Amino acid sequence: HLQCNLVGRWVNDLGSNMTITTVNANGNFVGSYHTAVTATTNEIQESPMQGSQQRTNHKGQPTFGFTVNWSFSDSITVFTGQCFVDEDGKEILKTMWLLRSRVENIKNDWKATRVGINVFTRL
Ligand code: BTN
Repeated sequence: HLQCNLVGRWVNDLGSNMTITTVNANGNFVGSYHTAVTATTNEIQESPMQGSQQRTNHKGQPTFGFTVNWSFSDSITVFTGQCFVDEDGKEILKTMWLLRSRVENIKNDWKATRVGINVFTRL
């Protein structure tokens, strides 16, 4: 009933698409991420992601984290969240993210990290 499976295709509130192909026995997974937006002026390309799902918790609705290593920029985003089953029985991923941009020097470190939330539903 409360089972929530990360495997599949997801879309978030920005229109970004993500595909998670498999979750292995240790809870590790890989996939691809196609962002709808960018903080850069670069041309957007599909980027690899890898993450882990917490599965010592057998109550369903697992927590997870993943990293997107952007193939078209010097940046990295880490997401963390939880997979929920909502009142209509629909799976929903509630996440928060940190986007780290590359800056030229330590003086610009203060402005190098963005934070936000994303909500994913099944595509
Ligand atoms: C970059 O601009 O350097 C890489 C793309 C960053 C896209 C961000 S990650 C957090 C937020 N959620 C998305 O789906 N896209 C943006």
